Amino acid sequence: MMDKKIPVAVLAATGSVGQRFIQLLDNHPWFEVTALTASDRSAGQLYGDACHWVLPDAMPEWAAKMKVLPTAPESTDAPIVFSALPADTARDAEPLFAQAGKAVFSNASAYRREPDVSILMPEINADQAAIVDIQRKKRGWKGFIVTNSNCTSAGMAVTLKALNDQFKVKRVFAVSLQALSGAGYPGVPSMDIIDNVVPFIGGEEEKLEWESRKMLGRVQGESIQPLDFAVSAHCNRVAVTDGHVVCLSVETESKVSVEEAINCLQSYQAPEVSRDLPFAPKPVIVVRSEKDRPQPRLDRMTGKGMATVVGRVRPDPLFGLKMIVLSHNTIRGAAGGSIYNAELLVNLGKIV
Ligand SMILES: NC(=O)c1ccc[n+]([C@@H]2O[C@H](COP(=O)([O-])OP(=O)(O)OC[C@H]3O[C@@H](n4cnc5c(N)ncnc54)[C@H](OP(=O)(O)O)[C@@H]3O)[C@@H](O)[C@H]2O)c1
Repeated sequence: MMDKKIPVAVLAATGSVGQRFIQLLDNHPWFEVTALTASDRSAGQLYGDACHWVLPDAMPEWAAKMKVLPTAPESTDAPIVFSALPADTARDAEPLFAQAGKAVFSNASAYRREPDVSILMPEINADQAAIVDIQRKKRGWKGFIVTNSNCTSAGMAVTLKALNDQFKVKRVFAVSLQALSGAGYPGVPSMDIIDNVVPFIGGEEEKLEWESRKMLGRVQGESIQPLDFAVSAHCNRVAVTDGHVVCLSVETESKVSVEEAINCLQSYQAPEVSRDLPFAPKPVIVVRSEKDRPQPRLDRMTGKGMATVVGRVRPDPLFGLKMIVLSHNTIRGAAGGSIYNAELLVNLGKIV
């Protein structure tokens, strides 16, 4: 517990991910929300009026009474900014916050490809946090930008990291079944998704094919060098509210039995610096042994939505090993992931 909580701002607080931030930051032991922003459509209104709340628990009272501010650095003194901005807005807005000295924890894809920006997941690549010092120096910013992974890449990257540490990953084949909340609110029209699977999500396959390589990479010199393995991905939207499933086939350099793979996944531990933070999943990976799990409705809240759930680990005739991976897209894959990132950077003393 800290003596005094650190003020934080939430950008695009009215959207699908923004609402998760409000829910998850309610009573956070280290952070206190002092500013909420959104688009010009909402700025000036009370959050309770501007936001169409779509989460099951009630909107926290403190949030309902806050005034929505314009998305500009002048709107807040908070040293930490959680961004749920759309990518095109994030591209221009997030650097302004970083220039103004803020630690920006972004959910947008706008900066994920930059070599001096980490796609940080404290349970697998806490060492990449070192890149923020390089980024500050290179860009002349007092603050910095750290991004989250794409919501579908998150569970897959955790699983691959555990397997790679012991058996070295060579090739991956991934088929996603992605929840509706991943498309924001109101998202996919009901007439498109009821009684249906939509076999296309713009830009998603490309993200899945390179993000986990960067997440498993290392800081070398002034940039993050992705790990060298190949990924082929198919992405599908399905009529599930929350929780992305990935059917994963993995080829490893050393031969691995199902039993060895399960032991490896179950025993995987986050680096020590990330292990005991408030949002740390414990355990990082939960392996289900039933023949029909994990399922989004039943398993997405495992570890308060922060754990990666793996099941049906079995031999694959082409790749060696296959399994099902589930991860909560708006918690581990978005707001919860950003909060965990901020906790890590505070723990490392990188935020004033
Ligand atoms: N949903 C997921 O599972 C998920 C997971 C990982 C990452 N992401 C990423 O997170 C970001 C937010 O996604 P979402 O699902 O929350 O979208 P969303 O539900 O469509 O919400 C969009 C939010 O952005 C705000 N906004 C739009 N234009 C703006 C502008 N010009 N200036 C300031 N605010 C603006 C909206 O405010 P108004 O209410 O005022 O319009 C709203 O708060 C995206 O970059 C997305 O790719 C989403």
